[in-house]
Amino acid sequence: MAIRLKFRHAAALGIIAALSIGMVGCSNSGDTSATNSTTTSSGGATNSGKKIVMGFSQIGSESGWRTANTESIKSAAEQAGIDLKFDDAQQKQENQIKAIRNFITQGVDVIAFSPVVETGWKPVLEEAKKANIPVIVSDRRPDVPDDLYVTFIGSDFVEEGKRVGEWLAKDMNGKATIAEITGTPGSAPANDRSKGFEEAIKAYPGMKVVFSQTGDFTRAKGKEVAEALLKSDVGKSINALFCHNDDMALGAIQAIEEAGKKPGKDIVIVSIDGVHDALQALVDGKENFVVECNPLLGPVIMDTAKKVLNHETVPKRTVMKDGEFDQTTAAKALPDRKY
Ligand code: AHR
Repeated sequence: MAIRLKFRHAAALGIIAALSIGMVGCSNSGDTSATNSTTTSSGGATNSGKKIVMGFSQIGSESGWRTANTESIKSAAEQAGIDLKFDDAQQKQENQIKAIRNFITQGVDVIAFSPVVETGWKPVLEEAKKANIPVIVSDRRPDVPDDLYVTFIGSDFVEEGKRVGEWLAKDMNGKATIAEITGTPGSAPANDRSKGFEEAIKAYPGMKVVFSQTGDFTRAKGKEVAEALLKSDVGKSINALFCHNDDMALGAIQAIEEAGKKPGKDIVIVSIDGVHDALQALVDGKENFVVECNPLLGPVIMDTAKKVLNHETVPKRTVMKDGEFDQTTAAKALPDRKY
């Protein structure tokens, strides 16, 4: 609370011109890349010695990736000595907006959130700005003007989709009948991964997406969509499957096996995330290629929060580094995979 008052005070007096015109004053416009870095600042306090209070609005617990992301945020906050107020929105935007409004009312020092969908955030972020509470965007980008958040930390989803598409085109010699199981409609990863994938395969006239339906990033819905697909005429023609995340691919693998087909052989399967179970599916020959989406954002978020509250410069965009796995490299990585 005291830190927020300090922000208000500074703005009122016009001491720091950048702060008085909004939170952009805390950042610059450069991009940086991040690996699974650790927190560098010591103690969860600003230079004035006050303990930082962070409100974090998480999307939900829809996937293995999300579980690892939540765990990373909680443990990094603890390690950094930051008092974390964590809210799970159960994949509902209205719950996230409510949580952010509660954080504003409580007078937290900093708000961080992963927006479930891209649109609809402007009013609540304007409220945070008016209250002089800096906002850190985690994982997914909201479609709002740049001055409504300090920094965005997360992966490049377009690039992930592109890498998957390029690998598939190469593996299938430029000819495939593809089904796509997409993520949550309107979400940044669903929009961007489709875009990247299409960009990659457009150079190959023989690569055709004949089916596209949402599985909402969950294993259960991925299975449900694949079951219906396999029973349909179009389903009988597909020889490749692109899932926007690992959980939906794992659900689809189950459905393919139950339909008496061999996943990874009859149907080539590619997905995004790199969770333990997907690496296992690669090792078992049931999946073919996975592009990683790094969920370990916690340390970067906590470090950034400290810097922002200490009026240090932070990059406007931090792109997480993502690896990739095929059946051979997955076997090497699996024993050390933490999530
Ligand atoms: O926003 C990241 C995506 O959200 C992950 O790929 C997915 O597993 C999660 O639900």
